[in-house]
Amino acid sequence: MKLDWSPDFPVTSELLSLMQVAADRAMQAEGISFPCAASVRLCNDAAIRALNASHRGLDQATDVLSFPAVSWPKGKTAGQAPHLLRKMYDPESDACFLGDVVISLDHVRAQAREYGHSEAREAAYLLVHSLCHLMGYDHMNEEEKAVMREKEEAILADAGLAREAGDCPIQDKALLALAREAMSRSYSPYSRYPVGAALHATDGRVFLGCNIENASFGATICAERTAMVKAVSEGARSFDVIAIATRDTPGWPCGICRQFMSEFAPNLRVLVTWGDGSHVEESTLGKILPHQFELKGKEQ
Ligand code: THU
Repeated sequence: MKLDWSPDFPVTSELLSLMQVAADRAMQAEGISFPCAASVRLCNDAAIRALNASHRGLDQATDVLSFPAVSWPKGKTAGQAPHLLRKMYDPESDACFLGDVVISLDHVRAQAREYGHSEAREAAYLLVHSLCHLMGYDHMNEEEKAVMREKEEAILADAGLAREAGDCPIQDKALLALAREAMSRSYSPYSRYPVGAALHATDGRVFLGCNIENASFGATICAERTAMVKAVSEGARSFDVIAIATRDTPGWPCGICRQFMSEFAPNLRVLVTWGDGSHVEESTLGKILPHQFELKGKEQ
């Protein structure tokens, strides 16, 4: 799904990537293979309050507002009205525009704290809720509400963001999806071997990386090291799991990356996924790099 972002403030790539993963899963869960688009504004409470007042006559801040662009036939949702999706198709943008989503990052922050999960995860929840509205779901009565909840839960489970995951910081499924998302940003014109990585820090942050090649081949950096370099330079030094995505064959980290990662996380869990994402294998850094090189007298 094409998301047209307009963040009023800088946001992390983890947040945008997890929201993209959730949006793609929403389309899949609804059975839509047609190209769809939505605009997503990320703003503060003051801005969403003004919109709530002008569009709904409610002068108060809220977490999310949805403005559907399509009126679905009564009782039907997007997946049940493919003819309408086709009719609304705009060749210029190569998509059917479903509508506008506005999310308050003040609410995202507060709700993430309240539920004990990351801001990215909360923002993905709110986006899924809003996309369900854009696809024709509603919660005006108990019956509608139950159908919408069920759809939301199915999408979130598919994205590895199910609520029953409880205090689990991020499910492997979500991390693997993020690695695939990171792979889409690979710069690999020489090898044509794209790699993506999603590194989970024990403080809850996720850092994404892709391989970035160079005309001077030796200057190329691998996806795993890109992710870890980003993480360490942002102050993270403790990691528990990395997910690595490649296209056709399993992409276990190269020797340099193994040594590099073992500096900070000798017991890191390593997940690799390839193909359509249904293939996943798991190991640990300790197993794939026994006897890593260490220097005595390292400062703690
Ligand atoms: N590559 C990685 O990103 N990670 C690895 O662990 C092994 C190799 C990249 C580097 C290069 O851009 C391409 O894969 C082919 O070697």
